This record gives sequence, structure tokens and C-alpha cells, in this order.
Amino acid sequence: MITLTLRSIVRRLGLFAVFVSLCCNPSLFAADVTGHWRVLRHTDDGNTLETFLDLKQEGSKLTGTVLVSWGDLQISDGQVDDNKISFTADVFRYDGDIAGDRMNLTQHDPNIGAISVSAMRMPAHAVPSPARLPVPPLHVVPNNGLASTPPMGWNSWNFFHDKIDDSTVRQIADAMVTRGMRDVGYAYVNVDDTWQGSRDANGRIHPNKKFPDMKALVDYVHAKGLKIGIYSSPGPKTCGGYEGSYGHEEQDARTFAEWGIDYVKYDWCSAFRIYHDSEMRAVYQKMGDALRESGRPMVYSLCQYGKEDVWKWGKLVGGNLWRTTNDIEDNALSMFRNAEAEVDLAPWAEPGHWNDPDMLETGNGSMSADEYRAHMTFWSILAAPLIAGNDLRNMTQETRAILTNSEVIAIDQDALGKQGRRMRKNGNVEVWTRPLVEGAVALAIFNLGVTDTPVTVSWQDLGISNVKNVRDLWAQRDLPDAGIQYSGTVKGHGAQLVRLETRR
Ligand code: GLA
Repeated sequence: MITLTLRSIVRRLGLFAVFVSLCCNPSLFAADVTGHWRVLRHTDDGNTLETFLDLKQEGSKLTGTVLVSWGDLQISDGQVDDNKISFTADVFRYDGDIAGDRMNLTQHDPNIGAISVSAMRMPAHAVPSPARLPVPPLHVVPNNGLASTPPMGWNSWNFFHDKIDDSTVRQIADAMVTRGMRDVGYAYVNVDDTWQGSRDANGRIHPNKKFPDMKALVDYVHAKGLKIGIYSSPGPKTCGGYEGSYGHEEQDARTFAEWGIDYVKYDWCSAFRIYHDSEMRAVYQKMGDALRESGRPMVYSLCQYGKEDVWKWGKLVGGNLWRTTNDIEDNALSMFRNAEAEVDLAPWAEPGHWNDPDMLETGNGSMSADEYRAHMTFWSILAAPLIAGNDLRNMTQETRAILTNSEVIAIDQDALGKQGRRMRKNGNVEVWTRPLVEGAVALAIFNLGVTDTPVTVSWQDLGISNVKNVRDLWAQRDLPDAGIQYSGTVKGHGAQLVRLETRR
């Protein structure tokens, strides 16, 4: 009797255990992740970066939005299987495990790699929205007198992304000197996003662990005969999710000036959550004024991806250069696309004020030498800023030769400051010219196709007379018999660049 009772108790306990494991173990039931989530990433530099998810689950299908600092990204390919979740949003891919009101995810970021992030469910939509500060009335910020030719230098983003720190910047400054970059005109060493830490009780921004002493770094770069740039955003957060200048514009400009900064790139990013695009001019004017009032001359680089016809007002907010496109990528399609976007923008470039088709990818490894030469040729004919974006410490001789060809650079830096124009387009072949000082002309021929193509361009067709000398700037030799035309083969995705000297 007693034995039977014990057996039945054990049986009942067993059934109870099965029941508990079924009802309380989320892994045995398909989760429902519908709702709002806050995603945290703890970086090695001591920051905690936030993104947000608004998710809707129907069966195993997942839709919704990933809210990053620079935009709201629609989810595609979203899938929930039991406790496994995966989805794509723009360039990001996420996958991981669901455990009730938490998720452990891996975020695959094309720039940064695989990052572990944790998500927790929020009762409501949770993107922080700081109070909107008023925008100032419009006025004209006086010229700062800088950048009489397109700025030349280096920037950390294209190659290093968030893996940039004090010691790497110092090594880059060293390489600018030892690899001959400084001597051909590259002057600015620019630290892009991810240098920021947090603000102290007085609101002053401090760098994060990667940059222990910004002033000391600035002094180091200056001692090399170079200048140094920094990066911020008019929004509360930068595109990388770091601290922006929102509400601290004057204070940050003063801090940058105290550190000895010479160049500020100001990136729209999360400002889109606060302002309308139509308010960009006023918002950029605010930092333009702040930089001016800091008393230190700093090149002002506007980065808002060419929105709102920035070329029409960039100079009025004190801008020395303004991005004309979205971010460049290290491939020929992206490089040509960014260059072509400037086909009608020549009238807006002049000494002190430049269209910026984004930084150079030369040497980053995914384009051929011909493509990198076309890249440098296009940027030079466009009078574009030449901001190298590769690892200068480890560049090949070929990359170095492309970046430091002084005759090509001389086209970019021509003192007349006129941006080149497209004169002809036949299929994939484009002919561009740029007027230079003393009646000289730069002629660039691009082959946007992949097949090597013979091209002839007569001076008469271009309306150029009295040509007395023609020099091939990549080969660095004068061309014989160049009295009436250029004739040669332009490689697939390649370019020719010649300088015509005229009799006056
Ligand atoms: C934007 C800019 C880039 C770079 C990154 C940094 O995408 O366009 O040039 O500054 O932000 O987060």
C-alpha cells in the first residue's frame, strides 16, 4: 500500500516536472518577439551604444524596423524558429537566440565585423528623443579663408572604421612623413567617428579610452608638420552611435579649438530624428558660427550626403567642402557613381569651397590599379578633396605611386580652382576637361566599361587651340605628335589624364 502510494507520488512528480519544463522553458515553444526592444552593445572603448527594434512576428515570419542612429531600416528575411531569430536590415545581418524578454544577438556589420549585442524587451517604443532646440535664423557665415585649394590629407574611416586609436593615428602621421605623402601636399590627419567618450557634469566632451590624451595627440601630429581633424554630428549621436554635438555646439567647437584641431567633419546622422531636412542649412550654420567664434581657424567639412542641394548653401554656412553623395565603397561602380553625381556641380566649386565626392579608397584592396588611377584622375579633374582612406603604414609601392603622383596632384590643386566638366559621352567613354592656370587644360578620358577602348579626341572638338605641349601625367612623359589630337587606348575601368599647355 505504502509502496504503491510512493510510486504514484513519484509518477505525479515526474508529470509535474514535464509540465513545468513545457510551460516555463521558452526554448520549447515558438517565441513571439512582437514589440519594442532596446539593443545594447558594450564597446572595448568603454561606450554603451544603443539601437532599437520594432518587431512584428506572424508565425515564423518577422517584419519590422531596426532603428539605428542614422536611420530606420526595414527588416527583410526576418525569421523566428523556436528560439532562434535572424533578420537583415540594410547592410546589417542579425542572428541569435531568444530567451523570454531577452535576446542574445550577433550583429554582422560590414565595416566592423561580427558584434555581440544583447536585446531587452521594452514596454513601449523607446528611441530617446531629446527636446527639440530651436534653429537659428539664417545669415551668411563669413569665409574662414581656408582651403584655397581642395583639402588634402587622410581620414581613418574607410579602412579602420571603429578600430582607430591614439597609437594608430600617430603611426599614420609618421607614415604621412616617411612615405612621402606630406611632401606632395597631404596635410590633414583626420580622426573620424568613434573617438568620443561621454560628457562630464559641465557638458564637456571627453574622448574614450582609445584616445587617452587628445591634446597630446594633436601636439604629436603638429610636431610632424601636419594638421589634425576630428568628427562630430549635429545630432545627439553620430552615425556610429557615439556622442554627437547636439545642444553642445559652441562648447564642442571651443573644446576642439583648445585641443588644437584644424579640421571638423560634421555628419548629419541622428540629426534626422530632430530636424527636417529643410532645416539643414540653419543646423550647419550653427556649427559654422561656433567654429568661427572659437577663434581657431578650422576647415569645416559638411557631411549630409548631398541632400538639399548643399552645394547651393554650403559656403554660406562657412563650409569649405560638402559631401555630394552617399558613402563611397571600395569598388568601381561606387567610385564612378560618386564621380558622375557631380556632372552638373562645377559652377559651385571655387577656392575655399569644394564639392566632395567622398574620401579616397585607393589602396584598400578591392579595385585594380587601373581603377584606382581612374579614381584619382576623376577626383583631380573634379577638384575634389584628396583625403586618402587606406592604411598608409602598409601600402604597396603601387598604391603609394598612385597617391603621390605629383603631376596628377597638381591638376587637383590647380590654383584657378575650377572644377572640370564633362564634354562628351559616347557609350562608356567620357571626355572631361578642366581649365588650369595660364591657359593650360587638363583632359581626362574615362572608360566606364570593362573593355579596353581606343579613343581619339581632337583639340578642335574641345574648342582648344594653340596647343604647344601635351603631357601624359600617369606616364609622366610628353607625347610626341600631339599637335591636333590625343589618340590612345583607355583600359576597361581605366582613365587617361593629360595636360595641354597652350601658346598664349
Ligand atoms: C557616415 C559618413 C562616413 C563616416 C561614417 C562614420 O556614414 O558618411 O564618411 O564618417 O558616417 O560613422
